[in-house]
Amino acid sequence: MKKTKHQALCMLLLLGSLLQAEVTIEDKVSDLLDKMTLQEKIGQMIQRMPASGMNSEFIDLIKSGSVGSLLNAGTNNQWQLRNQFQHIAVEQSRLGIPLIYGRDVIHGYQTILPIPLGLSCTWNAELIEKGARMAAIEAAADGIHWTFAPMIDITRDPRWGRIAETCGEDPYLTSILGAAMVRGFQGEILTAADALVACAKHYVGYGAAEGGRDYNTTWIPERQLRDVFLPSFHAAVMAGVGTFMSAFNDINGVPASGNEFTLSQILRGEWKFDGFVVSDWASMHQMINHGFCQDEKEVAFKSVTAGVNMEMVGNAYERHLEQLIAEGKISEKLVDARVADILRIKYRKGLFDRPYNDGRGRDAILSSSHLQIAHQAAVQSAVLLKNDGILPLKKCRIALIGPLADSPFDQMGCWSGDGAVSAVVTPKAAFGERLGANLYYASGIKKSRDIGREGFAEALQAAAKADVIVLVLGEEQSLSGEAHSRAFINLPGAQNELAAALVETGKPMVVVIMAGRPLTFQNISEHADAVLYYFHPGTMGGPALADIIFGDVSPCGRLTVSFPRTVGQIPIYYAHKNTGRPPVPQSLGIPMGTPVDPREDTSKYMDVDYTPEYPFGYGLTYSSFVYENLRLSAPAMKIDGELIVTAEITNTGQFPATEVAQLYIRDLFGSVTRPVKELKGFQRINLNPGEKKRVTFVLKAHDLGFHGLDHHYVVEPGAFHVWIGWNAEQGLQGEFTVVE
Ligand code: GLC
Repeated sequence: MKKTKHQALCMLLLLGSLLQAEVTIEDKVSDLLDKMTLQEKIGQMIQRMPASGMNSEFIDLIKSGSVGSLLNAGTNNQWQLRNQFQHIAVEQSRLGIPLIYGRDVIHGYQTILPIPLGLSCTWNAELIEKGARMAAIEAAADGIHWTFAPMIDITRDPRWGRIAETCGEDPYLTSILGAAMVRGFQGEILTAADALVACAKHYVGYGAAEGGRDYNTTWIPERQLRDVFLPSFHAAVMAGVGTFMSAFNDINGVPASGNEFTLSQILRGEWKFDGFVVSDWASMHQMINHGFCQDEKEVAFKSVTAGVNMEMVGNAYERHLEQLIAEGKISEKLVDARVADILRIKYRKGLFDRPYNDGRGRDAILSSSHLQIAHQAAVQSAVLLKNDGILPLKKCRIALIGPLADSPFDQMGCWSGDGAVSAVVTPKAAFGERLGANLYYASGIKKSRDIGREGFAEALQAAAKADVIVLVLGEEQSLSGEAHSRAFINLPGAQNELAAALVETGKPMVVVIMAGRPLTFQNISEHADAVLYYFHPGTMGGPALADIIFGDVSPCGRLTVSFPRTVGQIPIYYAHKNTGRPPVPQSLGIPMGTPVDPREDTSKYMDVDYTPEYPFGYGLTYSSFVYENLRLSAPAMKIDGELIVTAEITNTGQFPATEVAQLYIRDLFGSVTRPVKELKGFQRINLNPGEKKRVTFVLKAHDLGFHGLDHHYVVEPGAFHVWIGWNAEQGLQGEFTVVE
């Protein structure tokens, strides 16, 4: 008994101290609010970009407490400039509230990782967390406090340029990888000098833009919003993300930056999020273009009411909040609540205790350990789509050709503005190191969009001298990312013609595609002996490619987005509904683009197969694997129970390799129609030749649920299929039931 009393006392003391700690931040927030004038409160809600540096007008704004945050303040390495702004805010404004510096640190800072779509193909949450941690260390050392990442939008439309920034099409995978990025950016302790406040963006539904046209409208029924587009954002909240960013798009007619349902009812009401929401770049003001606000005053009213705390580079709050209060349209209490969220994050970041950057930690920028992380991420992001056995290459004479074979800037991909171009190692540099005189290089065409063929002759000469052609094609950086949607997703410029000319030589050919999205390239892949897909791989893309091509390591990436056979198939994704007339395998084999006589009356096209070119989860290695003996711990589980699902996987090849075992389920019948497959688990396993391992998944009934007719989460009893597979189309199938 005595022991229990002692334990209880310790618990009370611990609880008291914890409450004391939590109360401290809240006390500080309310104490500070009490001292602030209305102008100073509104000042915290304004994020500005000091386009013209330290001019006097800008300094006066900071001194008067009219700036809460700076965006892109100075270039990288200008940490002293950022300190200067901070000294003014802390030492020359009335209350000394520190600025919070925001920046797009999306996939690395000066050391650039693969673009997020590439990172997601590693299916390696631990590595992705490590990559975000590295980015935070570099950016924080440079005086940045807050990154506008992770971007955790879901999309099924490769025409959309920002697919490059996503973790692909799947909510479950994006939830896991996005949470890993939040942990990596924010670190164990947010007050640490090398921690960045993370930002879940773009909230919400941005990836559903009509036609894949960036910024376009979205129609998302609440059930789909809750089952597909919200989960990754909820996972970010559960991972402790400090901020959100409201998106550009309107959601069912209500723009995201004025959307009370998403910003207040869901984010704060249901999820209890207590950080702050920044708008996207002028996304508040664009509600006038949307036709949702008549003027800037209504922009301010609808945004602050809906739940946007901070306006990114706009003037609505600055010009109209005071007036709205004076007119009784909004209360100062509402403004207090919006400002309190901002102050809370500034306290949690430790900015009041340590507002300045002392320049320490800068030696980590582009350090060998960081380059090693970028190298590892690039290796694991590469997806082998085809290999007739030519890979890995023995040392031989190689003609390295293509517009992406030696283009450092393009190799970094979108949102790499702080990337050190000089540090990028291209395939040409990496292959040259290995092959010396046995490397023959020619770009063939300068940039991916060039249509000129003047470089073909040089390329053909290089090919003539070589035993094997390695052709590096794809998209230059500017063809993906924000505002870069494409109606055609083929290889641009004269790349197809260059490839055709090289095919004519009859030389064995390995094709590497470096892009910001899935592309269509059957005309090339059918002639290539191997195809490796490489979403812009970042700083170390060259050495990583060499490691793979020459067999130092087997590729292990798996696609996180379905590849369409043609742009006309979009949207095409694995977790689709069955429809009342599902297509049947017998109808497969349609020659691309050639309408065949209509066969069954089912949901498909007459002129292309209904399946993707490459499915979600697909990727080859230099070895081969056999899956056997799927086992379930029971034929049924209770509605609050769980089931163990296992299978044996053997490396039946000659090469050590990593397999990504994927767990899928299908709810066969429901109160609403359910997808034909849903990813519910995955495991990366390394197997040596001949080695066998049993993978084990714990499947909880709770994870089989969805949002029902009343839009509440529900798990329904009934029959399920389950797969442990090597992509969304292939695996060992079992079945089970869920019982009341
Ligand atoms: C851009 C992007 C957003 C980015 C912000 C700041 O328009 O939509 O992702 O973080 O502005 O650069």
